[in-house]
Amino acid sequence: MRVTVFGSGYVGLVTGACFAEAGNHVLCVDIDAGKVARLQQGEIPIHEPGLDEIVRRNHEKGRLQFTTSAEEGIAHGLFQFIAVGTPPEEDGSADLSHVLAVAETIGRHMTDYRVIVDKSTVPVGTADKVRERIEQTLGERGAKIEFDVVSNPEFLKEGAAVADFMKPDRVVVGTDNPRTAELLKTLYDPFTRNRERMIVMDVRSAELTKYAANAMLATKISFMNEIANLAERMGADIEKVRIGIGSDPRIGYSFIYPGAGYGGSCFPKDVKALVHSAGEHDFDAQLLKSVEAVNKRQKLLLFRKINAYFKGDLTGKTIALWGLAFKPNTDDMREAPARELMEALWAAGATVQAYDPVAMAEAKRIYGDRAGLRLVDSAEAALKGADVLALVTEWQEFRSPDFDLIRDALRHKVIFDGRNLYDPAFVKSFGLTYHGIGRGEPLVV
Ligand SMILES: NC(=O)c1ccc[n+]([C@@H]2O[C@H](COP(=O)([O-])OP(=O)(O)OC[C@H]3O[C@@H](n4cnc5c(N)ncnc54)[C@H](O)[C@@H]3O)[C@@H](O)[C@H]2O)c1
Repeated sequence: MRVTVFGSGYVGLVTGACFAEAGNHVLCVDIDAGKVARLQQGEIPIHEPGLDEIVRRNHEKGRLQFTTSAEEGIAHGLFQFIAVGTPPEEDGSADLSHVLAVAETIGRHMTDYRVIVDKSTVPVGTADKVRERIEQTLGERGAKIEFDVVSNPEFLKEGAAVADFMKPDRVVVGTDNPRTAELLKTLYDPFTRNRERMIVMDVRSAELTKYAANAMLATKISFMNEIANLAERMGADIEKVRIGIGSDPRIGYSFIYPGAGYGGSCFPKDVKALVHSAGEHDFDAQLLKSVEAVNKRQKLLLFRKINAYFKGDLTGKTIALWGLAFKPNTDDMREAPARELMEALWAAGATVQAYDPVAMAEAKRIYGDRAGLRLVDSAEAALKGADVLALVTEWQEFRSPDFDLIRDALRHKVIFDGRNLYDPAFVKSFGLTYHGIGRGEPLVV
């Protein structure tokens, strides 16, 4: 089948590459000429395990092409996927300008029947807006061309995006047109071979499903962080509590890790957007507002702990920072807890010596050669001359470090473990002081 994907970011590029891998002919359109040029030369602009290989293979076979020409894209695919960004506006609402810009372009250049597929995360009612925008533009041309608008939210996880796309838990399709549902079923069949995983519903329910999923996951994290903060004050260990509650199948072990807060390009913006949409429907989404507020506070918890340890004076202190990406296996630093920690440390006069296995180039792109930030090329180099160590991203390579080396390198022998990666007693046995999240021994913060 012929597929066009607008937007070659984390979602668009993975979508395009995976459809091509299944044998389809895919054209990816992006307005970022630099990105398109890099992709045409076989360079992958993001870190996503397994993506390089399938992009290169399918590009070489001619099944995956890249262009800046929307017109070419619209001529190419029966399916026109919209996978552009929907960043938050000042008021928390989702910025739909990129989505609607694509809709307008489609209306301007379409000459034949097209299925327009909203893959971006968009508020309920957006498919109607996309339809209206296309109709309006077609009207301006005096053209009468049939088209359908479908909602097909994406549930892939950064860091496991290719695997998630290839073997999705579910494919949600929102449409009232059975013919369009069949077309999408044919397109997705190769990814759902062992059992039917396509869930067809009305468009609005599909749009809300995506927000509900992310809001639920964000709620689990904020809930655990709330309990961790209680555990800390009550002399309990949240890790024991986690294991204790996870054994109940109604709760489960997934996604109940306490830590330094959630970040990334999805949870923070999607929770905000849902709160905003609720307001537009005269509903005060109290739980969701709290989820966000708890997370905001949590993202500064490590800073407050470090600041309390140094009795409020961080001037001239050097903090070794392990992990910059918002989670392991990605170089994405959007809304990463490490950013808030670094920015608070800089404001307090400290220097950060940071290392991340893949996000160094991204950190450099964001912060440049900023004073107070030293980007170093190994976990060990980050420790050199540092006062304490703060761990923010739970990369595999940080899981069994050389604690002797850490102790010898740090001026103050303290680890602030923002992901509860280490066993406190084990760390202490090396003569180090340990501060985790919700594991007793509260610092006054
Ligand atoms: N990142 C994730 O893990 C994830 C998961 C599920 C859903 N989503 C949703 O998918 C959407 C895309 O997210 P992302 O992380 O891939 O974003 P991204 O910022 O990585 O990529 C967006 C791309 O769209 C391009 N673009 C913008 N306007 C365009 C236009 N008019 N025509 C063509 N290209 C255009 C940008 O240049 C950029 O390359 C968002 O709505 C997001 O919420 C993201």
